[in-house]
Amino acid sequence: MERGRLIVFEGIDGCGKSTQIQLLANWLETRGRRARVTAEPTDKDTGKMLREALSGRVKRTPFEMAAMFVLDRIVHNTAEDGIEATLRKGEDMLSDRYYYSSLAYQGSLCDFHWVKDMNVNCPAIRHPDLCIFLDIPPKEALARIGRRGEAKEIYEKEETLTLFRDTFLRVFESIGDRVAIIDATGTPEEVAERVRAAVKTIL
Ligand code: TYD
Repeated sequence: MERGRLIVFEGIDGCGKSTQIQLLANWLETRGRRARVTAEPTDKDTGKMLREALSGRVKRTPFEMAAMFVLDRIVHNTAEDGIEATLRKGEDMLSDRYYYSSLAYQGSLCDFHWVKDMNVNCPAIRHPDLCIFLDIPPKEALARIGRRGEAKEIYEKEETLTLFRDTFLRVFESIGDRVAIIDATGTPEEVAERVRAAVKTIL
């Protein structure tokens, strides 16, 4: 049986990842593939620990955050319903965020090389078949976050989002992975069409 594909979505907060992941999953199914949507932080205990810290309820240093994200990612890969098991069944796995977020976020807040090494050279963390980066100006991202009306997380400020976007772009230059940088401005359908064009290249 042919293995499924691991496709991960990245972008600063407010770039429209969840909408685009769902649209891609629906499209893959219309093409006769089976697609599962997943996310980091995960819904496992390790992901719950991270949510406590992301909300600011529990204080953690950037080093602690980086290590916790790696732990959560290993669980994401190796759990019974995780990435490896899903791909082996021939299903595609679409993840909302992956190690590029650690490189961009924790990498710019503690030690970039340590964070990169821990993620990229870990045998229990699979490299994706494709990373889709939804690129949007930080101002527009914040406007979208504001319209959602949810409580803001610790990273949702313009200077921080600008720093993370720049770091994401540098990460992609420094890494051998296959990355599609997609213009995420426009209607959801316009963006979805750009995403599909990139995904077709790996099916
Ligand atoms: P989430 O509420 O899922 O935000 P979004 O819907 O924008 O993805 O929270 C994820 C937050 O965690 C987001 O601010 C980015 C951050 N994060 C990291 O800092 N490092 C990581 O490795 C990952 C996966 C996420």
